[in-house]
Amino acid sequence: MTLLDGKKTSEVIQDEIAAEVAQIKANGGKTPHLAAVLVGNDGGSVTYVNNKVLTCERIGFGSSLIRYEDTVTEEELLNKIKELNEDEGVDGFIVQLPLPKHINSNKVIEAIDPKKDVDGFHPTNVGRMVAGLPAYLPATPAGILELLKRYNIETLGKHCVVIGRSNIVGTPMSILMSKCSYPGESTVTICHRNTVNLAHHTRQADILIVAVGKPGLVTADMVKEGAVVIDVGTTRVPDASRKSGFRLRGDVDFENVAEKCSYITPVPGGVGPLTIAMLMMNTLKAAKKEVYS
Ligand code: GUN
Repeated sequence: MTLLDGKKTSEVIQDEIAAEVAQIKANGGKTPHLAAVLVGNDGGSVTYVNNKVLTCERIGFGSSLIRYEDTVTEEELLNKIKELNEDEGVDGFIVQLPLPKHINSNKVIEAIDPKKDVDGFHPTNVGRMVAGLPAYLPATPAGILELLKRYNIETLGKHCVVIGRSNIVGTPMSILMSKCSYPGESTVTICHRNTVNLAHHTRQADILIVAVGKPGLVTADMVKEGAVVIDVGTTRVPDASRKSGFRLRGDVDFENVAEKCSYITPVPGGVGPLTIAMLMMNTLKAAKKEVYS
């Protein structure tokens, strides 16, 4: 069994980006700039956004963090998005999700200029991805593709089972795995909360990608010998032995499943760290006007 080391892979990618940014700056080019909008004080979201900003600093990007209380109105948020769309200093920006219930997330996402939508959530980028046109790919699926590539994992003709159909992970992942270039070319099954006999499907999987947020959902009896298992779950569970009072648990019963796998991602240290690297890659593409010229 080989552990898919997302932390190390993320560091390698970040070093590659940092080297390119240094080159751009040495040639008198503009410093790539990412802005992040954060609403409220949800622990997970604050940590993610802080990590994004810190990563920008580390690899030589400019960054700005715009914070609002969770009482912010939709109008205020939409005005800020308009401002960021028009700000030539900002190459790309994200609005951290989830947003408070009184704000319509779809309306917010649709207000973002697709050219600056480095999260790849705008319907224009989703549509372009489906059509096989240049697009910003969402960070989590892009990170999984990058892991498959960097570990030279064969995907052609494999049966890939995706559990979860979210707009951020499951749905784009299933589309990308069926695309006609590597890493794709797989036969894809999407499972979700209404799937009857989940284990019947997961046992067929050569590549199993789990993104539902239910700790320990996938047990050893649900996995085929030699499968590649990718765990996107990162649920905070109480842990009195930790200073923070919690630890992260994946959707896969790692200890028992790992023995049956050819490759598996740990939690933490698997898919999570790669999402930040992919966001940085998209921001670099935005600065270089690689996706939209
Ligand atoms: N919430 C969970 N994942 C993400 C992400 O990749 N981007 C944003 N903006 N919010 C998220």
